[in-house]
Amino acid sequence: MTSPTRTHDAPPSRTFDQWWRDAVVYQVYPRSFADSNGDGMGDLPGITSRLPYLADLGVDAIWLSPFYTSPQKDGGYDVADYTDVDPRFGTLADADELIACAHELGIKVIADVVPNHSSSEHPRFQQALLAGPGSPERDMYVFADGKGEDGELPPNNWTSIFHGPAWSRITEADGTLGQWYLHIFDTTQPDWNWENPNVHDLFQNVLRFWLDRGVDGFRVDVAHGMVKPEGLPDATVTAEGLVDIPEGEAPIYFDNDGVLDIYREWRPILDSYEGDRMMVLEAWIPEHRVPLYIGDDVAHQAFSFGFLQATWGADTIRAAIEQPLAQAGAVDSPTTWVLSNHDLIRHATRYGFPPDYQFGEGLARDERSNTVLGLRRARALSLVMLALPGSAYLYQGEELGLPEVADIPDELREDPAHKRAGVPGRDGCRVPMPWKREAPALGFSRTGESWLPQPPEFADLAVDVQQDDPTSTLEMYRKALHLRQDLGLGRSEEPIEFLDAPDGVLALAHSGIIVIVNTGETPVDLAEWSGIGQAEVLVSSDALETGELPANSSAWIQRL
Ligand code: NOJ
Repeated sequence: MTSPTRTHDAPPSRTFDQWWRDAVVYQVYPRSFADSNGDGMGDLPGITSRLPYLADLGVDAIWLSPFYTSPQKDGGYDVADYTDVDPRFGTLADADELIACAHELGIKVIADVVPNHSSSEHPRFQQALLAGPGSPERDMYVFADGKGEDGELPPNNWTSIFHGPAWSRITEADGTLGQWYLHIFDTTQPDWNWENPNVHDLFQNVLRFWLDRGVDGFRVDVAHGMVKPEGLPDATVTAEGLVDIPEGEAPIYFDNDGVLDIYREWRPILDSYEGDRMMVLEAWIPEHRVPLYIGDDVAHQAFSFGFLQATWGADTIRAAIEQPLAQAGAVDSPTTWVLSNHDLIRHATRYGFPPDYQFGEGLARDERSNTVLGLRRARALSLVMLALPGSAYLYQGEELGLPEVADIPDELREDPAHKRAGVPGRDGCRVPMPWKREAPALGFSRTGESWLPQPPEFADLAVDVQQDDPTSTLEMYRKALHLRQDLGLGRSEEPIEFLDAPDGVLALAHSGIIVIVNTGETPVDLAEWSGIGQAEVLVSSDALETGELPANSSAWIQRL
């Protein structure tokens, strides 16, 4: 394999007409990407300084997880001021600089918008607490009287996504116990009341603020959450007392039709700006509901989370490709492939779990994963993903093959789910990036500070170790991204053809290449496989020295 051409000094030549349709979007988790001031917390100037790395890698856009003013009770998804930068991350001028530098390098910028809830430190919530029941201030959030003789019971039986009750009772300004407020997430994340037109105005202004500053789009957090069912009825609950998720439905407080009206308000705002501004929704909703959220008058895209839940096997992977492609065809919006993000166990660890692992098992982070196997399968699947038409969302560090960090001491864990319920939580996928093997904090921070400790195994995975090593995960990603761009794989509208293949092998063809993944236990001899004939290997997740595709690996090939 040869090293691909470096292109960071010249913006890509593509036109950006509906650029998001085939974009490779790299998610930056600002706390953990690069720390410029040595306080152990990543920041905006740190991200800016690493943009050439991302341009080199070949990404089209970055999505920045929240960097707004926030007490950081949920890693920034608890926003106290939507139109300012938290001093931990820098200033508005730093945000402007980041956006400008990204654009100079031909990289689009997607900001995160968090409309379901704010931080309890948001001035509007503080005003709501002070103003008392029935006031316009209180009507900005979901407050309700409690049940029981003295209002001592919560208004309904809803539970929080982060475990425990979804309601907390407040002490009124006069010192008496008072109303309850809803928080589908942590107690520090009160839900906005989207029945109130002032909440609509507030968020329209937030969108305009960042669009004016040049962002190219938004990733919408809990995009299915804002509108609650009328009357806030009790939910059916599971044996464990948690809000039930009936088959084919979302929990009672998600995916209510009124949410769609919010996108109908937002879409004309985005469309009124030049340059194809877009929104991509984080909506964990049943597949059959997704088409409602996508279209010319609603959102451009929604994350398709089916692919990352595929268990290892040719049939399961094929099904996880076919389903979203069929859906994408129906709504004329490309599929958004994703394998990892800041909420999930990193896929290099997930694919090393024993076969009986069920996706979403909360406690699985601490199970022993076969990390060697996990990385092999993760590389193989990433390569499949990058060949598929549509857009691909990468999570920082997956290009290095970073594993989940399972052994973070409990006292250092920050995830509210860990604090509320003692589950390991999501810190294990948020450990700061290793940039340089022989530098303090592996190059993350010049002082050696790091808000979460980096494990020893991160050293060998550092960027400077993998750079220019043709067998490394980093170079595999770089090569695949550049080939994807050159061959127009993401933008292809040709139907995918699934080829006859030996047991355990999935082979698909489009745009002149064949993508093969061997999920079986023995190597597959490509030369003996009549479906392929003479072929050149363009990129592979493992070496194919004797023309055999090893088990747990994949390749892109071109027929000669
Ligand atoms: C989804 C975000 O990705 C996650 O990190 C956050 O905790 C919840 N939404 C609540 O905002």
